[in-house]
Amino acid sequence: MTVPERGAAVAASLAAPDPRRLTTLRRRFPTIADLRDVARRRVPSFGFEYVDGGVGHGDPNAARNAAAMDAVELIPRYGGDDRSIATDVELFGKRYALPIGVAPMGVPGLMWPGGEEHLARAAQAANVPFQLSTSSGAIERAAELASNVFWFQLYRVARDDFAITYDLVGRAEAAGAHVLVLTLDVPARAKRPRELRTGLTAPFRPDLRTILELARRPAWLVAFLQFGQPGFANFPRYVPGHPTHHQVAKYVRREVGGTFSWEEVARLRERWPRALVVKGIMHPRDAERAVSLGADGVQVSNHGGRQFEAAPASIDVLPAIVATVGSRATILYDGAVRSGVDILRALALGAKAVFAGRPFMYGLGALGAEGPDYVMDFYREELREAMRQCGVATLAETRSLSFRHSGAFCFTAAERTT
Ligand code: FNR
Repeated sequence: MTVPERGAAVAASLAAPDPRRLTTLRRRFPTIADLRDVARRRVPSFGFEYVDGGVGHGDPNAARNAAAMDAVELIPRYGGDDRSIATDVELFGKRYALPIGVAPMGVPGLMWPGGEEHLARAAQAANVPFQLSTSSGAIERAAELASNVFWFQLYRVARDDFAITYDLVGRAEAAGAHVLVLTLDVPARAKRPRELRTGLTAPFRPDLRTILELARRPAWLVAFLQFGQPGFANFPRYVPGHPTHHQVAKYVRREVGGTFSWEEVARLRERWPRALVVKGIMHPRDAERAVSLGADGVQVSNHGGRQFEAAPASIDVLPAIVATVGSRATILYDGAVRSGVDILRALALGAKAVFAGRPFMYGLGALGAEGPDYVMDFYREELREAMRQCGVATLAETRSLSFRHSGAFCFTAAERTT
């Protein structure tokens, strides 16, 4: 069996969600915040704070993302017929079931051991894009689990004139990744106070406090015993000898990171034969530059408020980027998408699709393996309901919704067809 065939077989073997279980989960977790609350209790603090926290004291940039998202108003239209709702979207030549996917996240196993596998499986089952982080599970395994929806997010490894970077790209191509995502917004290591206070280190070295905490988190410990130490599965092969977890983590900390220069983006564009997305774009001129170098898409993002505390909310810069390159490139968006209405908000401001990070991690923390599947169901249901409320039946109509953003109303002329 080829890798894609094996991936399809894994997806086909997934049990269909039990409707009674879904009803229970929908009552227990009507919002992403409910999942977050339970995750906080079930996950050791080093895992929860790593995921939940942001850059700066009090997570100011993550809070700005949420407040700005909340401030976008959508103006509903009434009087149309009751039409069937279509949520599917085409991205880079492939059709997905929803305009939301899983954003790339390093070491999901800190939130729930085995997290990278559960995320990949859930994305494949829901037919939504899955962006695997360089710092997460192995490329080849993700391709196996999520063959139809697999995108690879690349971090920069400058050592040996980018030999490892290019090897990662070659592996992603061989494994069948549909899209390569270059993350530009990590020029420096960010100071995340909440993460630092838990004593989380890479490599992971549990102290007495951590061991006592683990003893009070039995479900997490069971997952840990099943899946082993969370780590950087793409890297052992690049570290000489037979490296331990500790040595691999030290290597990643030393060698991986930094922003790609535009010249490096151009070189990667030459090497990568499929769709290329540049992620972490906040300035229209940077979007322009990425597109002029051949990027097929840009992902408007401030890394979920984890990198630069003075950055604006990513939703607030979205319209300017859409105005600059929206006619020539696919505009993707991430940051504080916590409901179906938030998906609509980003689409109304011009994004073609959005990605969520922490919500899928909260799902893992609250529910373990079934968490990401539930978060998919949550967005699917909420999006459909929000579209009905607004009087739109397709994503194209959603993109022509009237709205108020940054204090100004924007009324579009588009008439409902029924
Ligand atoms: C991230 N993000 C991220 N981005 C990336 O390009 N590569 C990575 O390895 C990571 N790692 C990572 C870890 C964790 C724990 C989080 C929460 C986020 C950023 C991520 O892709 C995305 O931009 C944000 O998570 C979006 O914001 P929300 O949905 O978390 O609000």
